[in-house]
Amino acid sequence: MSTDDQINLFELSTFAGSAESATPPAGFDPDAIPTRASVPIPPGTYESLEPLAAHCRQCQRCDLGATRTHAVVSRGNPRAPIMIVGEGPGQNEDETGQPFVGKAGQLLEKILESVRLNSETDVYICNVVKCRPPGNRTPTPEEMAACMPYLLEQIRLVDPKIILLTGATAVKGVTGDKRGITKIRGQWMEWQGRLCMPILHPAYLLRNPSREKGSPKWLMWQDIQLVRSKLDELRA
Ligand code: URA
Repeated sequence: MSTDDQINLFELSTFAGSAESATPPAGFDPDAIPTRASVPIPPGTYESLEPLAAHCRQCQRCDLGATRTHAVVSRGNPRAPIMIVGEGPGQNEDETGQPFVGKAGQLLEKILESVRLNSETDVYICNVVKCRPPGNRTPTPEEMAACMPYLLEQIRLVDPKIILLTGATAVKGVTGDKRGITKIRGQWMEWQGRLCMPILHPAYLLRNPSREKGSPKWLMWQDIQLVRSKLDELRA
């Protein structure tokens, strides 16, 4: 089977169109997933996040499986109201198996703390692709498509009230929206019935240290305050 054929199997339409419906087809064998890339992962495949993580750790659905040290599935609270979706693991994440633990992750922690969000209780953090792209390159559309069923299942199982998409690659990988991140950051959008907000990637903030009005850090401060207010509103 060609790569294109394999990827076609993972188009969203193959999965009854959403992360919400949750009945795998009769005869579907979830144990075949890691070793047979031709087997799709329909919604409802996983009863919990543990078997999903186990499959990610064995996964060879795309070439990234061959070069990873660890699959990086998630950290934080599996029942959190906020899910943060990054692009993919970097070197620190590949070494530790934990998402957002390098410099960008440390900045993310500070951003969350600035609005009294706790990374162990208030958020669940994951990535579009679970394995590090060599040299920290952007994951290819094929790699993102191969990994997307895992993310859809994470979203279904965690069922967050708010999804934050960090950077253009996460926005494109999840929603297909190809607009530049500076155009759409800070705006609420609906995707598959879920409330999402694109935000700048923390790594972008590291490269732009200015705190002046209109700078990336200033924009992030505006956006994270909107997120905090929305969470308070949804909890009220
Ligand atoms: N950047 C990401 O997008 N994800 C990580 O886990 C780390 C850095």
